[in-house]
Amino acid sequence: MKRALTIVFLLAIIGVMTGLVSYSVTIYRLFCQVTGAGGTTQRVSADSGPTLAREVTVYFDTNVAPGLPWRFVPLQRSIKVHLGQQALVYFEAENLSDTDIVGHATFNVTPDKVGVYFKKIQCFCFTEERLEAHKKVEMPVTFFVDPRLATDRGTADVDEITLSYTFFRSARPEGAEDLARFGQVASAEAGKTLFERLCAGCHGLVTAKAGPPLAGVVGRVAGGASGYPYSLALAQSGLVWTEATLDHWLAGPQTLVPGALMPMAVPDESARRDIIAYLKTLDAARQSGESPAKAPPG
Ligand code: HEC
Repeated sequence: MKRALTIVFLLAIIGVMTGLVSYSVTIYRLFCQVTGAGGTTQRVSADSGPTLAREVTVYFDTNVAPGLPWRFVPLQRSIKVHLGQQALVYFEAENLSDTDIVGHATFNVTPDKVGVYFKKIQCFCFTEERLEAHKKVEMPVTFFVDPRLATDRGTADVDEITLSYTFFRSARPEGAEDLARFGQVASAEAGKTLFERLCAGCHGLVTAKAGPPLAGVVGRVAGGASGYPYSLALAQSGLVWTEATLDHWLAGPQTLVPGALMPMAVPDESARRDIIAYLKTLDAARQSGESPAKAPPG
């Protein structure tokens, strides 16, 4: 009889322990988000307070858990920041598989004692993130190191911090957000194909066709290719071609410049992004034989 009681008692303990284990991730997370313990960082929406002269170097480290066919890398190895100074860094993720996959990132800061002072304003942490098959995205993280790090004797010796992320395959893919919201990486290669299909009929790189030549167009003033008979509207627009103005132009030339004569538009945002990425490479065409029209001064 006694033995039976002991067994019941032990089973109850096992039950409680199992419950704790399955909840502990959540509990740990909540606990860490509130306290910043265990090298977990704080997420804030407030501003960073005063900026101090003291600098720390923040290193970035990324890991992908087994079973997640993603490539995940920091786009900078490290960055030097003043305490209190906001910094913007990027990470890149690519889904190497043929199916859409939902991932989930956790992060950690070392040394552990710095966790409470490492404040993130924007990040992709702790949310379920969907990445489409073969898509590549750049994800921004905005952070600062709390100036109070300087007044803590325990962190007097810290001049290097490592922010480490690990992406796991999500156990709860329902309701995931789309990582594409951070902006897909423009592909100049895709842009070249689009250019040849949509633009090359009217635009050469160095010779005028129905439209002006476009090599070196990024950074050039609108209406700036010499010898091409532009519309007065475009010639007098005062625009300079940047990523932003080109995007508006391609979305609707007459919306940006009423009276302009380019008779087509590219409604698809990601197609415009790729085409512009290609246009940006066209300066390199100088090396490959053709010598493009000279950009005018200014
Ligand atoms: C049917 C002919 C035609 C097509 C197709 C066309 N364009 Fe144009 N484009 C023009 C003309 C004409 C102008 C000059 C407009 C003016 O003078 O008002 C122009 C002007 C431009 C300019 C301004 C250049 C400068 O020197 O100021 C850019 C940039 C441009 N086009 C990009 C493109 C891109 C990118 C595509 C493909 C997505 C494209 N165009 C497709 C006819 C065309």
